[in-house]
Amino acid sequence: MDNLLGKIISFAKRRGFVFQSSDIYGGFASCYDFGPLGVLMKRNIKESWFFEMTRIQDNIVGLDSAILMSPKVWEASGHLTAGFADELVECKKCHRRFRKDLLEDKICACKGELTEPRKFNLMMKTFAGPVEDVAAVTYLRAETCQGIYMNFLNVIQAMRLKLPFGIAQIGKSFRNEITPKDFIFRTREFEQMEMQWFCRPEEADKFFDFWLEQRLNWYYSLGINKKNLKTYEVPKKELAHYAKRAVDILYKFPFGWKEIEGVHNRGDWDLSNHSKHSNKDLKYEDFFPHVIETSAGADRSLLAFLCEAYQEIEGGRTETTESTKEKEIMLNLSKTLAPIKVAVLPLVKNKEEVVKKAREVFNLLKKDMACQYDESGSIGRRYRRQDEIGTPNCLTIDFDSLKNDDVTVRDRNTMKQERVKIKDLPAKLC
Ligand code: GAP
Repeated sequence: MDNLLGKIISFAKRRGFVFQSSDIYGGFASCYDFGPLGVLMKRNIKESWFFEMTRIQDNIVGLDSAILMSPKVWEASGHLTAGFADELVECKKCHRRFRKDLLEDKICACKGELTEPRKFNLMMKTFAGPVEDVAAVTYLRAETCQGIYMNFLNVIQAMRLKLPFGIAQIGKSFRNEITPKDFIFRTREFEQMEMQWFCRPEEADKFFDFWLEQRLNWYYSLGINKKNLKTYEVPKKELAHYAKRAVDILYKFPFGWKEIEGVHNRGDWDLSNHSKHSNKDLKYEDFFPHVIETSAGADRSLLAFLCEAYQEIEGGRTETTESTKEKEIMLNLSKTLAPIKVAVLPLVKNKEEVVKKAREVFNLLKKDMACQYDESGSIGRRYRRQDEIGTPNCLTIDFDSLKNDDVTVRDRNTMKQERVKIKDLPAKLC
């Protein structure tokens, strides 16, 4: 499909998934806002991840640590040194800056000569407190997992955990990316879903394989086709400063195969460094546990799920006589991720009893699932609007509903309709 990303960007804006940040001021580079449907879909992704980690998997607990931490954290973790930096080159003529490893993607329009590469640290600096001096400098976290290491002892003590166990957290991270690009794929502010699995050193390899498989299965279970996902063993010389081994999970985006998640063996890098710098003993019994990390991006996976689900149907679907014969869009999202689960549609809006019955159905269901009530436009148009945003089921309340206390339940993908008693709807749709 040509320019699929461009189509998805304009679709995401038109239907309230993702907007450019500070839009009325011409936008703010690389920052995006999630609109009414985007926020629902992103929450569904995060809830599915958290549920998987803390309910389905055994021995993993949750955490929500602060974005701002002592700057000492970032000294000890290695993020303030060259380890967490990109190589940057500058065009001597137009003074634009590019990441050296992405240069092949970049055309310096003026074809000016480029400077030698130099290191550019990605930490976002800020000041805590009223005085903007060196003593007040702190950083927005660049990865959520450091908050997990900070709470390693607290969590063990509070929850009486025994190895192996995990701590899972979702939250914002910030990186001063030199070349943010590809919509919400690479931004300066983004959300991570990270789980740190603490285990005995001799079990690290076994758990690495286990977690990689679990993470792949999570994407498959939410509708990503196996052919659009692959793994990439990161070569030794490209490993992040903390990693002994890393395998990236890549998704086939319209702009190529790109990482959506990393599974890392961090060894005892973090616990031993924080122990050394803080003078606190972070050993378990008499050794440092090793860490297998699964690190996913909520924004990146939302983009992957959108790309996977977006379909254009030439000529439209022939469900109703009102089919426009124009191109129609359908979002083939899994039920878990769909922002709206059910649309409640009275067949007509000018018959009081039908509208009243539809309202009853809406009020019955809205406590259990995200519902939308829509009475404007022809029924065909309303179906198409719901197909576009991925709503799995539409319920239509018609004149028979008044006699039989039932509705038609329409399936988004097959367009098949069946009559279901209103009292049976919660069980059927949940
Ligand atoms: N704690 C390890 C860590 O942060 P990473 O490979 O740097 O590892 C993990 O990042 C995930 O976070 C990536 O796979 C991606 O999904 C997301 N991510 C990283 N940088 C991002 C950015 N600039 N914009 C959006 N997502 C990003």
